[in-house]
Amino acid sequence: MRSHYCGDIRQGHIDENVTLCGWVDRRRDHGGVIFIDLRDREGIVQVVFDPDGGEFFELADTVRGEYVLQVTGKVRARDTATVNASMATGEIEVFGTELKILNASETPPFQLDDHIQVGEEVRLKYRYLDLRRKEMQSSLQLRAKISSQVRQSLESQGFLDIETPILTRATPEGARDYLVPSRTHEGKFFALPQSPQLFKQLLMVSGFDRYYQIARCFRDEDLRADRQPEFTQIDIEASFVEEQQVMDVAETMVSDLFSKVLNVDLGKFPHMTYAEAMDRYGSDKPDLRVPLELVEIGDLMKGVEFKVFSGPANDPKGRIAAMLVAGGNEKMSRKQIDNYTKFVGIYGAKGLAYIKCNDIADLEEGLQSPIVKFIPVTVRATLIERMGAQNGDLIFFGADTIKVVNESLGALRCKLGEDLDLYTSKWAPLWVIDFPMFETDDKGGLTAIHHPFTAPSVGVDELLKDPEESLSRAYDMVLNGTELGGGSIRIHDQGMQKAVFKVLGISDEEAQEKFGFLLDALKFGAPPHGGVAFGLDRIVMLMTEMESIRDVIAFPKTQSAQCLVTDAPGSVDAKQLKELHLRLRAPLAPSTDKPAES
Ligand code: AMO
Ligand code: AMP
Repeated sequence: MRSHYCGDIRQGHIDENVTLCGWVDRRRDHGGVIFIDLRDREGIVQVVFDPDGGEFFELADTVRGEYVLQVTGKVRARDTATVNASMATGEIEVFGTELKILNASETPPFQLDDHIQVGEEVRLKYRYLDLRRKEMQSSLQLRAKISSQVRQSLESQGFLDIETPILTRATPEGARDYLVPSRTHEGKFFALPQSPQLFKQLLMVSGFDRYYQIARCFRDEDLRADRQPEFTQIDIEASFVEEQQVMDVAETMVSDLFSKVLNVDLGKFPHMTYAEAMDRYGSDKPDLRVPLELVEIGDLMKGVEFKVFSGPANDPKGRIAAMLVAGGNEKMSRKQIDNYTKFVGIYGAKGLAYIKCNDIADLEEGLQSPIVKFIPVTVRATLIERMGAQNGDLIFFGADTIKVVNESLGALRCKLGEDLDLYTSKWAPLWVIDFPMFETDDKGGLTAIHHPFTAPSVGVDELLKDPEESLSRAYDMVLNGTELGGGSIRIHDQGMQKAVFKVLGISDEEAQEKFGFLLDALKFGAPPHGGVAFGLDRIVMLMTEMESIRDVIAFPKTQSAQCLVTDAPGSVDAKQLKELHLRLRAPLAPSTDKPAES
């Protein structure tokens, strides 16, 4: 139906006859001449109809925004005065000689430009229209390019693309499962995979050696800007490897991606232990674009009169840390400090003490702060020295449990980086390594930080003796404060796997019931193996500089896990429920589409 894409026409096509198909971006009537900006996937070109065009001119007069047209015409140069340097096709236009309206369009519910003010609900309901916008077209086109580049990179490193099931059993990534009832097995359910973790390990047992998959994963968890219930992983596993080899494969893949797609050289990724990341940045995914750091000052505050400080300083589960904002004195008004105090409150901090360093030579009068009176002058001197503070700097303090201090000052660090534009680079990747094996959950039990198939760095005896101190062979790749991917060397020995289940309080019966197939497979010559998985949506979000992964997914779910285009999840009729051997706890309310709450 067409000879070219609208957005591809250039000066080289001048005097050629072309046939284009696309949507009316804009139609303008200029003193008897009609201009139509015709848009397709590749861009926009200006088409001109003048009154000599007869019936086609009249037809051109009837078209409206978003009509679908087929236009034939001759490419010609624009007058110098009308050249539009901001358009790729701005030096030419198409003089229309024929026009066919392929389809009309109602007025769209919102303006399809890149500065739309409409709420996200409307955009998501009419997603097919929202996706016509240039910003969305570009982000999904870049996504396709990224997937293609990832495939090339992994295939050139010897990885085979193998698919794994979507209808499966619960997989252990710690979120709630999406369940699918079985019609043929009454009372039984499939779970959608939270990741292909167990299958990729089985593929290693099968000897495929290097596997990858761009895999859809499903997790019923609380949603945020960087989380969707249905998302895509670049999933990787390899045999006969140790940490460094998996990290090399992954780093090569991400570096190739940035250099080929964005022409950015990420350099060699630094490695940082989990312990160091928590100490210096309060986070296991530190944003290293921000130069601010947390400094331990517990030893200085053990004896001060201020209980808020001396309490955590003397408590092994407490932490007191300080953060220096160079030149922060001037940059921050009282009101801003109050706002930051509220901000850290979100993370459970009960306050945000600060010292403004007006004159550090005068430790009696030169420090301005609501708490300085509680701190002896000698301690003030050591503090100023340890922080490297200069006149004009501001120091913030967090004193609470380790968790609250890390989370609140960690988040404040990133917020200050953004608010005060402190970034020292555009991209800051790193590997975080040496994670602990376990963390304590709300009920005081231990849960696996990565997943229960991650190998510990210690032997069985040591693990059982001191699980809380045991480190794991896991690693995460972090970019600009976002966890892009994570993985580990796996347990390939049944005895170690059993020991980890024991620490997690998973009985032999439960382990056999849930993961028996993996435990069995480990008996039949499982090779040492390890891998990693990346969030593709997150990679695309960072590379397109979008705010949310919703902006890089064609049909995303809302914050409340709904698809507004199709209105899913929807109710089903009684017959379907019966076939699935299901009964709802309350009958469907008669006049609504939704099942009644039970
Ligand atoms: P993990 O659970 O860390 O590891 O997931 C790997 C990566 O997937 C992305 N991700 C998400 N992206 C969008 N929405 C979500 N809800 C979501 N959850 C996770 C993140 C994360 O880093 N099987 C292991 C990997 C392995 O050990 O090889 C796993 O799934 O970018
Ligand atoms: P208060 O004695 O509660 O008035 O607090 C004095 C100063 O200490 C105020 O600036 C508070 O914001 C700050 N503050 C209170 N609790 C904490 C805390 N847990 N960590 C850091 N600063 C705090």
